[in-house]
Amino acid sequence: MRFWGILSLATLAVAAPAAQGTVQAQEADINSNSGRAAAIIEAFRHSWTGYKTYAWGYDELLSVSNKGGNSRNGWGASIADALSTAILMRQRDVVHDCLQHLSSVDFTKTSTEVSLFETTIRYLGGLISAYDLLTGPYADLVSWHDKRLVKSLLTQAVVLADRLSFAFNTSTGIPYNNLNFSTNSSSDTTNGVATIGTLVLEWTRLSDLTGDPKYARLAQKAEGYLLDPHPSLGEPFPGMLGTDVDISTGQFRDSSGGWSGGTDSFYEYLLKMWIYDQSRYKNYLDRWVVAVESTIKNLLQTPEKGVTWVAEYSSANMIRKTEGHLTCFIGGNLILGGTLLGRKDIKQAGIDLTDGCRHAYSSTPSGLAPERWSWDPAGVPVKQSVFFIENGFYATSSGYYLRPEVVESYYHGYALTGDPKYQQWAWEAFLAINRTARTPSGFSSITDVMQENGGGQDDFQESFWFAEVLKYLYMIFEGGLAVGVKGGRNQWVFNTEAHPVRVKLV
Ligand SMILES: *[C@@H]1O[C@H](CO)[C@@H](O)[C@H](O)[C@H]1NC(C)=O
Ligand SMILES: *[C@@H]1O[C@H](CO)[C@@H](O)[C@H](O)[C@H]1NC(C)=O
Ligand SMILES: *[C@@H]1O[C@H](CO)[C@@H](O)[C@H](O)[C@H]1NC(C)=O
Ligand SMILES: *[C@@H]1O[C@H](CO)[C@@H](O)[C@H](O)[C@H]1NC(C)=O
Repeated sequence: MRFWGILSLATLAVAAPAAQGTVQAQEADINSNSGRAAAIIEAFRHSWTGYKTYAWGYDELLSVSNKGGNSRNGWGASIADALSTAILMRQRDVVHDCLQHLSSVDFTKTSTEVSLFETTIRYLGGLISAYDLLTGPYADLVSWHDKRLVKSLLTQAVVLADRLSFAFNTSTGIPYNNLNFSTNSSSDTTNGVATIGTLVLEWTRLSDLTGDPKYARLAQKAEGYLLDPHPSLGEPFPGMLGTDVDISTGQFRDSSGGWSGGTDSFYEYLLKMWIYDQSRYKNYLDRWVVAVESTIKNLLQTPEKGVTWVAEYSSANMIRKTEGHLTCFIGGNLILGGTLLGRKDIKQAGIDLTDGCRHAYSSTPSGLAPERWSWDPAGVPVKQSVFFIENGFYATSSGYYLRPEVVESYYHGYALTGDPKYQQWAWEAFLAINRTARTPSGFSSITDVMQENGGGQDDFQESFWFAEVLKYLYMIFEGGLAVGVKGGRNQWVFNTEAHPVRVKLV
């Protein structure tokens, strides 16, 4: 999950007594891959048990106060997000619980505003992915009389997409993002590059699964404005875009952007659409290559020996020396595309950028990267001047919100280079999270990675903790999964919420 939404719930950490998660497989050697995979499953079950006990059916567990939160329309976001991970981990009981719930949700009703983007990547992506997995290599996880629940995953995806479709009913076909289900309208006048450009994989897959082309048509029409941006201020560097697009004209409004929140997963999906169907989406790949070459030329910075960062921009001649945790998926994305295209320069840039994000983890007292940081010597806060001299960057926003992007890049690094250092780094990240973010009922975002204990817990367990962090960690240690990324032809592609989608077979 990318884009910039952060829910800041400022409740502080007073751990309430809670049921302990199932402790299992702790006997296995923690230095072996299978022992580490078992430890990740233990963390998953710990979170799941807390969610099931205190927040079942809610979108997420408030993991300190042991209550339910509804930040995603109350349809059970954690269930939609946990399912594909539970399938890969082969947790039959969890799979069964998820299927039961998802078949009974009424996706046509909600009392709160609906984000087209978040709903697409979490719910639609989760439903479609589980359908692909459970009608494919993981079909054995479902008993004969639960097969109808698998079918209902696709039915529910159709109900949801049909209900969301009015978002695209604008003069340009660029959708609104913030939807009001009681009026079927929106007050949006602009939409962003990430929220327009991170729909196309899910909506195209839905068309291919149902044989009804209307879903793909809607998302691809919107995407067209990003593949051919106007006016020129919307493309300050070749392939690298501004952020906001006017919904009524299709024209870009600004030149600011980069690989960070608000634009990020648009670039991710350019590559992934081509992986999804190389015969139909070569033009997406071409745009990805232009964007990446332009990034390497204009935005990569190496101020410290061995540390590579990627900068953001306000316009072509105003570069900002700042990066965030969200951006750290870029390493994995470049390693993936560079490998598939046989482009050593792109792959190496991905490796270097992943090293940079690892540096942001290994330098801090908690062992986790801050939400945002900078390497601009002009803005160093006095409190961090020593840290800056020693490490070459400083935090500008210091929470950690259970974000996945760094372990996502480690996963791609490990899968596509085989270098075991990525496994070691992933394990260190897991231990740091387990040490600072674990509560008696689950895991929680933390307030300050610049303190060894993480500064305190925020009482929020994001649904993407289940979908992304735990899945990428698990896959790093559990070889032989049917969905893994490969250097050659891939059978699966991960949506931005880490839900694996089956590629279109020709
Ligand atoms: C939807 O629109 C109605 C009518 O303008 C308004 O009363 C309501 O608060 C809106 N709902 C949301 C969730 O924004
Ligand atoms: C699209 O919007 C127009 C008004 O802007 C409305 O008349 C029409 O019914 C809408 N169509 C759908 C399918 O929502
Ligand atoms: C909104 O659309 C749904 C169908 O998608 C329909 O059932 C409902 O009546 C519509 N509401 C309004 C206010 O148009
Ligand atoms: C994670 O934390 C729990 C609770 O402190 C602990 O029991 C468990 O051993 C930890 N896992 C690892 C792999 O260190």
